[in-house]
Amino acid sequence: MPAKTRKPRTVAVDSPLTLPCGITLPNRIAKAAMSEQLGELDGAPSQTLTRLYSAWGRGGAGLLITGNVMIDRRAYVEPRNVTLEDDRHLEAVGNWARAGAREGSVTVMQINHPGRVAVGPLHRRPVGPSALRPQAVGFNLRRPRALSLDDLADLRRRCARTAELAVRAGFAGVQVHAAHGYLLSQFLSPLANQRTDEYGGTPENRRRLLLEVVADVRRAIGPTAILSVKLNSADFQRRGLEEAESLEIAFALEQAGIDLLEVSGGNYETPAMTGAVADSTREHEAYFLRYAEQLRQRSALPLMLTGGVRTLDFMNDVLAHGAVDVIGLGRPFAVQPDIAADLLAGTREPVALPTAPRLPIPGATPINSYLQLAWHAANFRRIAAGEKQVSGPGAVRTLVAAGITVTARALTQF
Ligand SMILES: Cc1cc2nc3c(=O)[nH]c(=O)nc-3n(C[C@H](O)[C@H](O)[C@H](O)COP(=O)(O)O)c2cc1C
Repeated sequence: MPAKTRKPRTVAVDSPLTLPCGITLPNRIAKAAMSEQLGELDGAPSQTLTRLYSAWGRGGAGLLITGNVMIDRRAYVEPRNVTLEDDRHLEAVGNWARAGAREGSVTVMQINHPGRVAVGPLHRRPVGPSALRPQAVGFNLRRPRALSLDDLADLRRRCARTAELAVRAGFAGVQVHAAHGYLLSQFLSPLANQRTDEYGGTPENRRRLLLEVVADVRRAIGPTAILSVKLNSADFQRRGLEEAESLEIAFALEQAGIDLLEVSGGNYETPAMTGAVADSTREHEAYFLRYAEQLRQRSALPLMLTGGVRTLDFMNDVLAHGAVDVIGLGRPFAVQPDIAADLLAGTREPVALPTAPRLPIPGATPINSYLQLAWHAANFRRIAAGEKQVSGPGAVRTLVAAGITVTARALTQF
């Protein structure tokens, strides 16, 4: 009897993916990092945050990447970020990781330091590669202090410690946030990084800190945990990080042995990550697909594409063509926690995406980013309480919520 021939299976959203470290994602849909702002005032993850990840864990995603967790309690991206710098909250961190993983999702903690865009004007002492304010008003009323070489050594130790704690607590790995204009992304940017020592001046010097952090983190978490990096394809700013240099960084990260590169772009000044400059790529649905395709031609590094992806047909198409390996979704998970299960079941309609209120005035970009965060934070609470489809609060409640969280943070700072 002739042997049965098996048709090679096309890669689609429901295909598993084994990463270089040996961990297998059960499918190709990832919840991208979204800052939940559900930490306690002392930096511990709250029970609401754990419930939110239980809901997302039931929602079928192959990979759940947490919102950014701070490596240093002196520097927050937003009020109520979780901070992980020692083992005092390890049990709560473990409960958080397990809540997400209970139904088979792989959970990864994103770790971050905001650098010069630490919450301002409430933040005591922002730091950055150079003593240069960002151009966006609202996050930068205090001029940052340029980090010394000793500070950089401390920063590297902190990244490694937070990563080790995350894995010890029960996360499958970490994602180093090197995108969106935070500290590591500031080092990569010729605009923000005007140092004249070995951490600035040339592309190799600008990427030195990121590569050192990646090496330290790998040493801290070992070869069998996931080490991912989120990188800007470009900053979309004059004299910011450009695509050609970003591709070189991606190759260096591949050499450094990371498991998954998430491609994004932009910062508070030009929020390309949520579509601010997407007009030219609208026909593609995904904001950063062209970059991923270029990278794929010269690299086998597992790639995750995040930003604007919404339809099942598009996802399966880019996966089948091999341009990327994982599809990252952010905002859809903030209105429909089960979105991955629906996509895996074959639902073809894009998720109906209510959007956050915006101030329609020039120069309001950073304020609008803040409103977006507050609006999403309200949704996260609803999902944690069990809602399956949320439509988001109105403009007034969003403004009030943003004001309350900023004030709460301020009271704990002074
Ligand atoms: C409320 C909110 C919070 C976010 N927080 C983070 C974060 O902590 N870390 C990060 O890398 N990206 C963050 N992002 C960006 C998302 O990960 C993602 O790159 C972006 O939303 C584009 O994907 P989408 O079009 O599917 O939403 C955030 C986005 C939103 C809307």
